[in-house]
Amino acid sequence: MQITSVGHAGFHIRTAAGSILCDPWVNPAYFASWVPFPDNTELDWDELGDCDFLYVSHLHRDHFDAKHLAEHVNKDALVLLPDYPVPDLRRELEKLGFHRFFETEDSVKHTVTGPGGDVDIMIVALRAPADGPIGDSGLLVSDGETTCFNMNDARPVDMDVIHEAFGHIDVHLLQYSGAIWYPMVYDIPARTKTNFGKQKRQRGMDRARSYIEQVGATWVVPSAGPPVFLDDELRDLNDDHGDEGNIFPDQMVFLEQMRIHGNAGGVLMIPGSVADVRGAELALTHPFDPGVIYDDKAAYIARMAERFAPVLAAEKATWAGPEGSLLEPLRELFEPIMKQSDLICDGIGYPVGLVMGERTVVLDFPQRVVREPVEGEGRYRYGFRIAPELVHTVLRDREPDWVNTIFLSTRFQAWRIGGYNEFLYTFFKCLTDERIAYADGWFSEAHDDSASTELAGWEIQRRCPHLKADLSKFGVVEGETLTCNLHGWQWDLESGRCKTSKGHELRSRRL
Ligand code: FES
Repeated sequence: MQITSVGHAGFHIRTAAGSILCDPWVNPAYFASWVPFPDNTELDWDELGDCDFLYVSHLHRDHFDAKHLAEHVNKDALVLLPDYPVPDLRRELEKLGFHRFFETEDSVKHTVTGPGGDVDIMIVALRAPADGPIGDSGLLVSDGETTCFNMNDARPVDMDVIHEAFGHIDVHLLQYSGAIWYPMVYDIPARTKTNFGKQKRQRGMDRARSYIEQVGATWVVPSAGPPVFLDDELRDLNDDHGDEGNIFPDQMVFLEQMRIHGNAGGVLMIPGSVADVRGAELALTHPFDPGVIYDDKAAYIARMAERFAPVLAAEKATWAGPEGSLLEPLRELFEPIMKQSDLICDGIGYPVGLVMGERTVVLDFPQRVVREPVEGEGRYRYGFRIAPELVHTVLRDREPDWVNTIFLSTRFQAWRIGGYNEFLYTFFKCLTDERIAYADGWFSEAHDDSASTELAGWEIQRRCPHLKADLSKFGVVEGETLTCNLHGWQWDLESGRCKTSKGHELRSRRL
């Protein structure tokens, strides 16, 4: 098997049966905030796009690059499709001209046939509203000699199913760095922000190491991030100036973490690096010395920023203007969604302020209405300050998901009193009837908390109340606090109260 990195979460996997192109991302994403790092524009994209199979793990814009897929990828490729309840990914690919689909079944091994023969694949589909835009996935590929697990940024909860289907994994490709707007956009004192950032940075790497242990692959390739921020307004987000609260550590930082923890299987791949893998043997070639990127990363980023300046300017020129009322269009979009999602609106539980330039609009979730602020209402418990241009743009483009557009752009500020509110972000990513119906139904399903596990003198429910991670593997107890390393949520073990978000109580008892 030959695995070529094509940047970020993208890989080109060549087997005797045929080639699989995974998550090719080239064009700036999320209002031009994210750009692939290191630069991958110099690759021969027409050759890479002439693939037999295409795998797009999910609809996040750093995995699904519509422009690039339209211009450079073979429309006759057989699309390996994750088993998602809402078929938005298939629809988007159909719009681009893809017409051959292999619908996989979640966590089931399939054999697909390419021009050179058969190859085994399996797609693990994550379907919780919190996973991607209602769906994220990882791909396993085995040619009989080598097995590769491309986990990208998916967070599967059951590793047994992978080992049962494929046995030993030779190469594991996974995310280890941040891909979120927290804590940078929050209105909090600088020192608190640095502390939160430090925790977030370390947790991301701890989670990756926990996955590495559970998957037990011979070789591990850190991938799927971090992006680089090239706009002057956002340049400070890059981990190139010794900020310990930066949540975007790069490949070198994580490979060092692996070494510190005694794992020598880390492999650095940059766009164009080729790994020839035969079971446990791996031969690696780079297109050029990676020192060009990492020895003086700030200078490398500065050169990229110069090259990309016209691309970013062209992208900004496509945004809508700041003028025009927002109350009516927001009411038209949000109120019907609010009215069909009782569980989510009650879960949010309070009015949320949207400050857009001079105007404020209130999303009154308890009343299911979008309205003007009321005199003396005071500060909202949760709020966002977003440039009106961005809101006009997502409304103009009928975007069904503000996470996949505005929030991941990090071009906004937020404040909150109390914990993170998962229901709120779920609402913003479900702005179609189909998505909200699915998400509301998902939350209303009873979660299984019947099984227990023991950790550091406590009996606790085995499955995390958030997204059912196995707490015997992801749970860490410090004092009376339990942290689930899958997403870093915390619980007070004495009371079972979730310290991170509303609801989500945990069953726990001191032994
Ligand atoms: S599954 Fe998300 S914090 Fe446990």
